[in-house]
Amino acid sequence: MNIAVFASHNGSDLQAIIDGCKGFMNTSVLAVISNNRDAFALERARKHNINSYHISEKILPDPNDINNEIMRILEINKIDVIFLAGYLKKLGQPIIQKYKGRIFNIHPALLPKFGGKGMYGINVHKAVIEAGEIYSGITVHRVDEEYDNGEIVAQTKVDVLNNDTADSLADRILEKEHTFLVEILSDIINGKIKLE
Ligand code: GRF
Repeated sequence: MNIAVFASHNGSDLQAIIDGCKGFMNTSVLAVISNNRDAFALERARKHNINSYHISEKILPDPNDINNEIMRILEINKIDVIFLAGYLKKLGQPIIQKYKGRIFNIHPALLPKFGGKGMYGINVHKAVIEAGEIYSGITVHRVDEEYDNGEIVAQTKVDVLNNDTADSLADRILEKEHTFLVEILSDIINGKIKLE
């Protein structure tokens, strides 16, 4: 299984996927794409000799050119599955259509709650704490045209503790994402999560 990971910042989820792939045969991250030239995710990719690409509207102002370039990269790397792991841009329609059912997003809360436009990063955890939730969690879902909207394929809960701040909750959830992502890889490989 050839994987592409899209990430905008640190890429700790990317790292978990890269490391997790070592436990499976014929499974590896072959391309990392970021809209942010300074994303540490790109550095992580380079360290592992994974093809890394910076694609942004600063270089390609026309959205069609961005879509075409992403498609080209996915094709030359013969990508089967895409993970959006902290990628803050929306994928273009042609990419979503071509890889329908094969693009997964990792969201740090229990969708359908606490998702949608603007619900990313620390905003998600602030909203969970403000709402007085007793648990939050992680959702992996297929990507469609709307933010955080596609079919949910897996979820896991994380307790919200009495003394949690948005930061402490974010840290605990992110740590759990790293093991959860390896479970997701396994579920895709063994067919529990089907590729459409
Ligand atoms: C994670 O919280 C993930 O749920 C969200 O973006 C964050 C990525 O963190 N989609 P990192 O850049 O992988 O460390």
